[in-house]
Amino acid sequence: MSTIQQLARKTVQALTPYLSARRIGGRGDVWLNANEAPDCSTYQLDSSNLNRYPEFQPPQIINAYAAYAKLNSNQILTTRGADESIEVLIRTFCEAEIDSILICPPTYGMYAISAETCGVGIQQVALQTNFDVDYEAVEAAVLASNGQVKIVFLCAPNNPTGNMLDKQKLAKLLTATAGKALIVADEAYIEFCPELSQTDLIAEHENLVITRTLSKAFALASIRCGFTLAQTSVIEMMGKVIAPYPVPGPVAQIAAQALSSDGLEIMRDRVVVLNNNRQVLANAVRKLDCVTEVFPTTGNFLLVRFKDSAKVFQAFADDGIIMRDFANKPRLENCVRITIGNSDEMSRTLKTLNSL
Ligand SMILES: Cc1ncc(COP(=O)(O)O)c(C=O)c1O
Repeated sequence: MSTIQQLARKTVQALTPYLSARRIGGRGDVWLNANEAPDCSTYQLDSSNLNRYPEFQPPQIINAYAAYAKLNSNQILTTRGADESIEVLIRTFCEAEIDSILICPPTYGMYAISAETCGVGIQQVALQTNFDVDYEAVEAAVLASNGQVKIVFLCAPNNPTGNMLDKQKLAKLLTATAGKALIVADEAYIEFCPELSQTDLIAEHENLVITRTLSKAFALASIRCGFTLAQTSVIEMMGKVIAPYPVPGPVAQIAAQALSSDGLEIMRDRVVVLNNNRQVLANAVRKLDCVTEVFPTTGNFLLVRFKDSAKVFQAFADDGIIMRDFANKPRLENCVRITIGNSDEMSRTLKTLNSL
């Protein structure tokens, strides 16, 4: 390690960074490894004010998102992707070297990475055998931590297993942990099953936080725009910590168009198409000899357990199809996550699987 590297914080020296799909890379022409949307709309950009700093929280997107989520504008914070929301929550509510977050693996990797980079501890309560949240164990862990666990991250649809939350059990957990810990429901993929959102619980529970993104169903992963939904008390605290100009002006312009009534219609049409493609894929995959398990179908991805995932992964790679490999993650042996693409991409995926 160079002398400059030795200057870095010890936790950063030891850190293995999150391997995003882009960092892992791949070779091919069918990209099904990052849960992105397969299509892209066009947007108008006005460059006449690029010399000015953007608004701290651009009202046109805050108001549009509030209307879309059926909440008040002061219950919404916009961030650079949902990833920034996760980090700002940790920096706002967790004392470095003292507090912890609680995660339920296997789940999205950024909760742990963000905690690590902030010097915040990580407690784990594994998902149950069927990959649902073990609410009683989570409640017990929060209560036993003597105030150390400040944030519980739950993900629904859970990336990568697709499991959802149970509203009644979540409400009970929120009540039991009120005043002790925030319960974050990461709804990055909720547009694919909007009836299962937990936003209606926000009015009753000050400790519920919901994170959202335009990266998935809205097909805008490139612009890095996310949202935090919670009671005003939480939003105000996060507003003290977040960067002074979190959302670039051009991003706000694009996001406002995506959240207009036309934009929402395009998004909802996309969801219908992708949910249908997912069902077709799931039905076909279930019949294959090389498949041992198909996980719940809730987001724009499908986790599949194969008899020999290394062979399947190689066959995809040989055919120029890039998937996300979960085989080396605990409890996800032989699992590959397939992002739902357009019908051509799904046909190519099935062609490769059928050739095995
Ligand atoms: C569960 C989950 N939460 C959050 C994110 C990050 O979203 P964003 O692109 O808005 O940072 C992802 C991205 O894959 C995700 O899968």
